Amino acid sequence: MNTYVTGTTIRQLREARNMTQAELAEKIGVSSKTISKWETAKGLPDISLLQPLAKALGISVIELINGEHITNQNISANMLRSKFYVCPICGNAIHCLGNTVVSCCGITLPALEAEDADNDHAITIENVEDEHFITVHHPMTKQHYISFVAFVTSDRLQMVKLYPEGNAQTRLQLRGMGYLYYYCNQHGLFKKKV
Ligand SMILES: [Fe+2]
Repeated sequence: MNTYVTGTTIRQLREARNMTQAELAEKIGVSSKTISKWETAKGLPDISLLQPLAKALGISVIELINGEHITNQNISANMLRSKFYVCPICGNAIHCLGNTVVSCCGITLPALEAEDADNDHAITIENVEDEHFITVHHPMTKQHYISFVAFVTSDRLQMVKLYPEGNAQTRLQLRGMGYLYYYCNQHGLFKKKV
């Protein structure tokens, strides 16, 4: 990831859209020589030009600065292919049906990759009446804890927030096939097929 837009990013995005330097220049009201300077690292666009530049290149300002174009590969919005994003600074947790651009506390969040449960993040599921009692065998200290548990099926999401010094337990209705996700603030996202 970059900390500011680079000439290489501008050139790659412009060429991917089959635009000449003159065409891009006209869209944002600068000269083609200015575009050429940016692309050859002899200058950088003023911050006031980032919004029009991103618009002309068909991406968001965040993607333009990061040099990464994020596309949603889950057009049919299959819940089983949904994504979780967690902010490492404030703990904000976001669920999306596909890849997207999420920014929180000034940083762009990557879509989390869930791992299979390991010995330090083992989970048990017990039937209690028409619900399931979920226990994650994990510490719940202020420094190291499970911050949420979620169950995702093809058509619904149940998400339960857990808190440090509470219990790493909750009840969920496990209807149909799906994935149980749970997030450790230190070790990341885990999942178990149910
Ligand atoms: Fe952990």
